Amino acid sequence: MDATEKKRNAARASLEFIEPGTVLGVGTGSTVNCLIELLPQVRDRIERVVSSSRASTELLQAEGFEVVTLNEAGGELDLYIDGADESTKRLHLIKGGGGALTREKVLAGAARRFVCIVDDSKLVGMLGSFPLPIEVLPMAQAFVAKRLLKLRGQPVWREGFVTDNGNHILDVQDLQITNPLELENRLNQIPGVVTVGIFAQRPADILLISSDAGVRELRA
Ligand code: 5RP
Repeated sequence: MDATEKKRNAARASLEFIEPGTVLGVGTGSTVNCLIELLPQVRDRIERVVSSSRASTELLQAEGFEVVTLNEAGGELDLYIDGADESTKRLHLIKGGGGALTREKVLAGAARRFVCIVDDSKLVGMLGSFPLPIEVLPMAQAFVAKRLLKLRGQPVWREGFVTDNGNHILDVQDLQITNPLELENRLNQIPGVVTVGIFAQRPADILLISSDAGVRELRA
């Protein structure tokens, strides 16, 4: 089975978590794009949709959904569905490969339930093989990069990329993320850091992992 088929299967499995009257948050990325294609099948169960990026908003609108802001939804979601770049069995994640990590973290925080959809290549023993995305204020980029070097990370500027919030991304290689909760906290203290791509303070609640053998579910 190819990677796209696995992503589609994970996305399909997440539809069962959409109950009648759901205020739904939609993430960003190729796995979520599969979900957006399937969402019209459960349109009657969706009360409102909030999106984590301009890219997902455009796709949702193309499927005929009216997208509202999180403020318009009252600051709360019943369910948030999104992909990830890496996940551990404890459902700690690295996100931000698509650069939408800030709005994704807000929606994950606002959601009563966060369902993460991945193919089996994303399940890891320890986070950090995937370079850790960090969204930074453009004026603080060099300063934050120096602080990251002191922590023995190798920050690489995602050149030419500007986030939906007008900021820059540093992709940090070579971090040994043995304690995701602690590192997320520590990196959040660096002035100029907008969002750290570790989702450990607010991990996923349910991880749907798609493989050749089918889709299995892990719960936090
Ligand atoms: C975007 C993200 C995505 O969830 C992550 O990059 C996974 O993307 P894909 O489903 O394309 O592998 O965090 O900011």
